[in-house]
Amino acid sequence: MSELNKIALKVLSNGKGILAADESTGTMTKRLEAINVPSSSKNRLLFRETLFSSEGMKNYIGGVILYDETIKQTSNSNKTIPDLISSSGAVPGIKVDTGAKVLAGSPEEKITEGLDGLRERLKEYYKLGARFTKWRGVYNISNKYPSKLSIHSNAHALARYSALVQECGMVPIVEPEVLMDGNHSAEDCFNKTSEVIKKCFEELILNKIDLTGIILKPNMILPGNKSGEELSSEEVAKLTLKCLKENVPTSVPGIAFLSGGQTEIQATENLNLINKNNDTNFIMTYSYGRALQQSALKFWSKDIKNINGTQRIFNHRANMCTLAAQGKWSAELEAK
Ligand code: 13P
Repeated sequence: MSELNKIALKVLSNGKGILAADESTGTMTKRLEAINVPSSSKNRLLFRETLFSSEGMKNYIGGVILYDETIKQTSNSNKTIPDLISSSGAVPGIKVDTGAKVLAGSPEEKITEGLDGLRERLKEYYKLGARFTKWRGVYNISNKYPSKLSIHSNAHALARYSALVQECGMVPIVEPEVLMDGNHSAEDCFNKTSEVIKKCFEELILNKIDLTGIILKPNMILPGNKSGEELSSEEVAKLTLKCLKENVPTSVPGIAFLSGGQTEIQATENLNLINKNNDTNFIMTYSYGRALQQSALKFWSKDIKNINGTQRIFNHRANMCTLAAQGKWSAELEAK
């Protein structure tokens, strides 16, 4: 077993999942302003540290994705943030792309940037304690999109990023996110996501990536949020599993879904059914941002000194997601 494969399994095994706490300062500012908390560096750290020092980290969280600001901060207990995360048994990770920009040649689409100088930045993050990384490509669905250009360019960038990350001894999370926004059908989502993932693996293979040392972070197959189409969790699970079985090489150890704007309960229920029906060898778990943090953030905004109360809410969410990652969740457990 390679070192990279060991890291991936440490992050994903035993029902554990990933806490995606890598919102850029811009995104985090929007989230905090929406709940009337000033977005200072101190407040951003306070909320994140509250989560990272909670009990739930030990049993449920295998990895945390950090943002550049956070990985360099020091906790109240005087530990660096990566040390605080490692002390709970989780692996520190880092978002390394520099964001999605307008794609020249197809200006209604995005290309993720951040390859220039990446090798040097990776070395610095490794020294700070990171052992896995994230890069997100983003695609929107409409009649003509995602275009071949966007599918090709983002896959190429994801593969070049992955090669540099593995060269530096870290596990790349490969995240091609086909957005839920729009009025497209679940069938459109299935077809476009299949095309996107297939192209990503073509490029990963071309760039000689060790597929046993990556984590795929895809969207689930869902109808557009303005389509009016309703799909049961059973159907979401069935289509998602079919898409992944058809397009992901079996050497990939695990798949950690993004929540992508689903509610906390939807993201949990869908993951649960994916696991109940999982007839693949892939570990299927979560790498949620909003679906792990939303309720905790809302509670915290009312009293940012109430650490215990905020942690109780986060622990419950992480517990539910970990049960779902084993197909052991049920709606009744939410009430407890
Ligand atoms: P959400 O779960 O909120 O979609 O965030 C996950 C993530 O890391 C997106 O890049």
